[in-house]
Amino acid sequence: MEKIISLAKRRGFVYPSSEIYGGFAGVYDYGPFGVELENNIKAQWWKKMVHDRDDIVGLDSSIFMNPKIWEASGHTKGFSDPLTECKKCNTRIRVDKALEEIGVFADEKMEEEEINKIFKEHKEEIKCPKCGSQDFTDVKKFNLLVKSNLGDFTEDNSSPAYLRGETCQGIYVNYKNVLDSMHMKLPFGIAQIGKAFRNEISPRQFIFRSREFEQMEMQYFVRPENEMSEFEKLREYRYNAILELGISKENLKWKQHENLVFYAKDAYDIEYKFPWGFDELEGVHARGDYDLTAHSKGCGKQLDYFDQESGERFIPHIIESSTGVGRLVFAILAEAYTEDELGGKTRVYLKFKPQIAPVKAAVFPLMKNKPELVEKARGVYEALKKEIPQIMWDDNGNVGKRYRRQDEIGTPYCITVDFDTLEDDTVTVRDRDSGDQQRMAIAELTGYIKNAIK
Ligand code: GAP
Repeated sequence: MEKIISLAKRRGFVYPSSEIYGGFAGVYDYGPFGVELENNIKAQWWKKMVHDRDDIVGLDSSIFMNPKIWEASGHTKGFSDPLTECKKCNTRIRVDKALEEIGVFADEKMEEEEINKIFKEHKEEIKCPKCGSQDFTDVKKFNLLVKSNLGDFTEDNSSPAYLRGETCQGIYVNYKNVLDSMHMKLPFGIAQIGKAFRNEISPRQFIFRSREFEQMEMQYFVRPENEMSEFEKLREYRYNAILELGISKENLKWKQHENLVFYAKDAYDIEYKFPWGFDELEGVHARGDYDLTAHSKGCGKQLDYFDQESGERFIPHIIESSTGVGRLVFAILAEAYTEDELGGKTRVYLKFKPQIAPVKAAVFPLMKNKPELVEKARGVYEALKKEIPQIMWDDNGNVGKRYRRQDEIGTPYCITVDFDTLEDDTVTVRDRDSGDQQRMAIAELTGYIKNAIK
């Protein structure tokens, strides 16, 4: 874990937020390579969930919405985590997680009374992670919605607007707009990528649980009788899409929810083996007609579907797939992190799948103080960059240092322009994983790299 966090910072993937001001808990900034990695992940998701599908369309709804939406969805009351405070050092602890750590089942969805009872039964086994004390306050449920004063000019912020706690609510409230403007027929889906905000009590484990994060969610609207068969199809589709990012089967597993919320038909999480063990990467849930029914009641408008062929009118059921960009970045970094020995020396490299790598190839002049080499290498670099945007120029330090840097960035190919290049228009192409080098004609480079990242 420490090695991944340190490499992520050192090589410009992820920085702690507001670092020069002492940081800001629960938020992170993505550096130059982090944002490229994020963009590649988002592009793969958009391709799989929108462009490859005739039955799914995209959406970009606003972060701020009418606060009534969060009342109707149940978030103002039910979107909370159970919290206790150490009476000695005031450290706040998420009770469901503390119980989970000692092998006792608890769920953030449990009523305050229920979780308090379990907590009291096991209080002797739980210690404050900071000071070791076992003196805690009663458990209180703490709402996760982040409030703002947008459009609220009361002095005490008594009519707050919320920063969205999940992106899918923007999809539900636009269901009718999409249906009417796009003439969609069931089954159909609406997909969205965007920021979400949660007042997490204990943001932790690097970018795994943060207070500001990005979600990629798709809501699939189906006939009620098809809910479970479509659910199985979506589960398989999403699992395969995650494998395509270069994540191995051994590090993935399905976890079925034991304690289903009252409206859910079934719910599974795809878990990834993070450095601390298997934990949630993505959820695939069969949500019944809960969301559209709740918003229909909330706004007083019909959110049903009229089937022209059968003449039936009904509320579609919803199957959801929901994942976090940050969790995928973390999983892909953890999966790619490799230490091995090359040329008698230990090295660290990120074994990204070339399609996902933030830099596809780096171009070097063998020596940066030889203008003829630099000029030739710039030509190779510029020609490649026209065809493949994620190409990097690197002339910093000697070639050995450049290889080490590019290995840590996870660049699959390093291209060196040397004196032979001036004679015969060939370059050295070094493969990141094996360290093997081959001579290749400049004319073949673009095709070679394009083929590798296809
Ligand atoms: N619409 C359903 C929903 O939001 P969720 O399980 O609360 O369900 C879905 O979140 C996904 O969003 C998670 O599987 C995770 O990938 C990501 N996620 C949730 N909370 C997060 C947080 N605090 N930080 C980073 N990612 C988070």
